[in-house]
Amino acid sequence: MSDSYTVTDPSGNSVELPKVQGTLGPPAVDVRKLYASTGGFTFDPGFTSTCSCESGITYIDGNEGVLLYRGYRADELAKKSNFIEVCYLLLNGELPTKAEYDEFESAIRMHTMINESLKRFFTGFHYDAHPMAMLSSIVGGMSAFYHDTTNTSDPEHRTIFARRMIAKIPTIAAAAYKYSVGQPLVYPSNDLDYCSNFLRMMFAVPAEEYAVDPVAAEALDVLFILHADHEQNASTSTVRLAGSTGCNPYAAMASGISALWGPAHGGANEAVLNMLNQIGSVDNIDQYIAKAKDKSDPFRLMGFGHRVYKNFDPRATVIREHCHKVLKAYGGDSDGKLELAMRLEEIALKDEYFVEKKLYPNVDFYSGIIYKALGIPTNMFTPMFAIGRTVGWVAHYLEMVSDPGMRIGRPRQIYTGADERAYTDIGSR
Ligand code: CMC
Repeated sequence: MSDSYTVTDPSGNSVELPKVQGTLGPPAVDVRKLYASTGGFTFDPGFTSTCSCESGITYIDGNEGVLLYRGYRADELAKKSNFIEVCYLLLNGELPTKAEYDEFESAIRMHTMINESLKRFFTGFHYDAHPMAMLSSIVGGMSAFYHDTTNTSDPEHRTIFARRMIAKIPTIAAAAYKYSVGQPLVYPSNDLDYCSNFLRMMFAVPAEEYAVDPVAAEALDVLFILHADHEQNASTSTVRLAGSTGCNPYAAMASGISALWGPAHGGANEAVLNMLNQIGSVDNIDQYIAKAKDKSDPFRLMGFGHRVYKNFDPRATVIREHCHKVLKAYGGDSDGKLELAMRLEEIALKDEYFVEKKLYPNVDFYSGIIYKALGIPTNMFTPMFAIGRTVGWVAHYLEMVSDPGMRIGRPRQIYTGADERAYTDIGSR
């Protein structure tokens, strides 16, 4: 097989472009020299056929429904590992030894508190502010606090930054929730594991004892593992693009949180539950399926479809199994949301429109049902995604800044505006 591609422009001029091949996945044509050789660009809005970087962190085979973190299947990790071990794996490339795990886990526990001044940021928000607005602002605000971790050429700075981000994001998310319900912020407790600590910060109040439910902590651990990374998704690409300018690392993380918020990305989990509420009952499913298929109607089946998965989303399969387990422990499907979601999935998967377009339930379709059963309010669903995805953003950011060949991300465009013209004086227009 040839190790280059030949591109011929309309005038018949040809240029040889190298082939790039990763360890897994399809080959790519390296177009970096295209402009210099031909004076032309490539055009790919939405990046449907464009690789923005090389990365050794996560691999997705969208046709087979495979998701690998550093070579390990995410669904296997969800069964056998835990979130902190997965964080170590994503950051370092290998599973930790027992000593490495203990050191890492203890370091995450010890970095959970946020600077006391950051607490005051919350009171600047209106009580009904969306927690994602608070999350991105406060993480961006961390840029002004942690000056000892911004030299990305220093491995020690990079390590402290990574640990700080992973350790503090649950504290900030829980504080955003507490502020929105008018309750005192709960400080982290370093004798608890990552997920138990988060649940306590979310739900404990000073007036009562709080006992963490291990079923809830386990469910969160699985969800965080399955959300931990997803290669060059929109928020991770945003982190890379922002970070490529050399901006403060916390500012790059804040940009990722903002990108995650949209309903086409991490905001879909919140949108799924709102959609299930809107559909209301199994009797109305056909009507909403018809709306989703109607091109003149903006309604889409939220939690369905994916840019990369064209078979099934392996994360959705694991989450659906966990849904049953969590609902069993929490008194069943009392409001019928799981039944409604399962029936909707069943009907959509038999519908020609969804079959032909290869639209399957994605990670966000069932996660909200678990969050809801655990008492997590709908507007906190996307912050939950952000907690899990923080390690992915950090791993990609660090991979990028450690690459000596890193360049600022700067796409080109096809200009469709006015041709050059002369300025006319306001009185003559
Ligand atoms: N409901 C109805 N039609 C859909 C849906 C849907 N959920 N998703 C895609 N389509 C149709 C779309 O209208 C298009 O039809 P046509 O070819 O006739 O124009 C075709 O399927 C391809 O869709 P697309 O929008 O071009 O595909 P994309 O790769 O650009 O977008 C997506 C992927 C996830 C944004 C989209 O499927 C979608 O909006 N899904 C609903 C939102 C959602 O669940 N997002 C979470 C994604 S997974 C978690 C994450 O990444 O954060």
